[in-house]
Amino acid sequence: MSNYTMFTASVNSRLSDSAVMITRDLAETLGLQDSDQLYFYAGQVKKKLKLSIRNSDKLNMRLDANAGILKKLYLQPERSYGIKKDINGLHLGPVVGISADIYNEPGRPFGNQSFFFQQLLKAGEALGEICFAFNPRTINWNNGNVTGYTYNKKGWSKRTFPLPDVIYPRERAYAANNNFRRRLEKAGTRFFNPPLVGKWETHLIMKKNPDLAKYLPETRLIKNFNQVEDMVKKYQAVYLKPVSGSQGKNIIRVLKKKNTAGYEYQYEINNLIIKGSAPSINRLQSALKRVMGNRSYIVQKQINLLKLDDNIVDVRILVQKNDLGKWETTGIACREGKRGSITSNISAGGSGKKLDTVLHRHFDDDSRRRIIIEEICFLAIESAKTLEKAIGPAGEIGVDIGIDKDGEVWFIETNLRPARHVFLLIGEQETRLKSVEMPMLYLRYLAGFVSKER
Ligand SMILES: Nc1ncnc2c1ncn2[C@@H]1O[C@H](COP(=O)(O)OP(=O)(O)O)[C@@H](O)[C@H]1O
Ligand SMILES: [Mg+2]
Repeated sequence: MSNYTMFTASVNSRLSDSAVMITRDLAETLGLQDSDQLYFYAGQVKKKLKLSIRNSDKLNMRLDANAGILKKLYLQPERSYGIKKDINGLHLGPVVGISADIYNEPGRPFGNQSFFFQQLLKAGEALGEICFAFNPRTINWNNGNVTGYTYNKKGWSKRTFPLPDVIYPRERAYAANNNFRRRLEKAGTRFFNPPLVGKWETHLIMKKNPDLAKYLPETRLIKNFNQVEDMVKKYQAVYLKPVSGSQGKNIIRVLKKKNTAGYEYQYEINNLIIKGSAPSINRLQSALKRVMGNRSYIVQKQINLLKLDDNIVDVRILVQKNDLGKWETTGIACREGKRGSITSNISAGGSGKKLDTVLHRHFDDDSRRRIIIEEICFLAIESAKTLEKAIGPAGEIGVDIGIDKDGEVWFIETNLRPARHVFLLIGEQETRLKSVEMPMLYLRYLAGFVSKER
């Protein structure tokens, strides 16, 4: 069980600009005395105020101040907020910022993440957080504030907020905004997830964990196209993937031609499937230049994924830290690639399927199916732990996992900005809701607002 304190803010216009009044119950919970002078913090904004204590009525956890002070502390009247005491004073909220790229779309300032953010903010407010979404470029370092977006019935609105206690990073770009991140970290802000890390680095990290070795398909960084030649010779079929890619973009499959020399390849551009063949490794390299560009790529053994009606199927499992900072699996879904595709990504036209449906189709034996599910869960949690040990603390990771025809389970990749749309596609509204609430719960813990029940 976790333990945290909440109060309701209310306006009392008789109180001066340096005073707050709290109920006795709240004072006792926090260990505060009448006439104490102490700092109130909203994120990194602070204000020194003098306490007075009044007897509690049936509304027993309340904090009163005049309207100006409430505003300065970013509190809205008759809303409930979390509060914690430390050696510096009292902290409100916590102040939670969701950082993301901003778009010029009417009614959707955060593009296709806008609806997700609405749900996050709703969940955060219910937990007593002072939360908003923002673009790091709008930070005003001189004033120590930022333009934050909130959502209510009337739609999105923006106003000034303090620099947050904790940040949920949702920008998709690699290496984006690391300067702002370093600067905020120095000032004491904590981040929910580390910056994105590429597929090759991830592979090297996983490889160091002996418990994960058997799940890793052989992978190499392409420095020279002869490595592709070697890998195709060894496995007959390989995947070429951009180190910093996502959403199945710019992924190529290369097959060894049957009976004759040469290669066949397939990739997708703008959802269009493109297939071709090349008689030699050099010709293959030039044919693929168009899609590979100057990007860094890995080459990986093809996992012979299970299929449904001839379409490839793999697994997305979402692992998240809970309100006490412990890893849990929130949900598992399968993704079925669109007809003829070499990737299962939803954004590339894939659809959702329940894991049970997929497993029943291929494995009759009950215990066999159970073992596969156990392995998927083990692999997901273990790779999350392994990754965060190497690159810094994380709050959630979406792990892509393949199951092959022999029931073997394979690690495909980890996602530090996972989508959760797939749970809606398989009709699991509750999993989806949980996946939205979990980060807000963990952020409260990360900000130090939760203690273990004694
Ligand atoms: N080695 C592989 N063997 C078979 N299928 C693969 C392999 N690697 C990737 N895929 C397919 O391509 C999809 C996208 O690959 P992934 O590594 O997750 O990159 P992205 O970051 O673009 O999602 C996977 O979900 C899977 O369906
Ligand atoms: Mg993926």
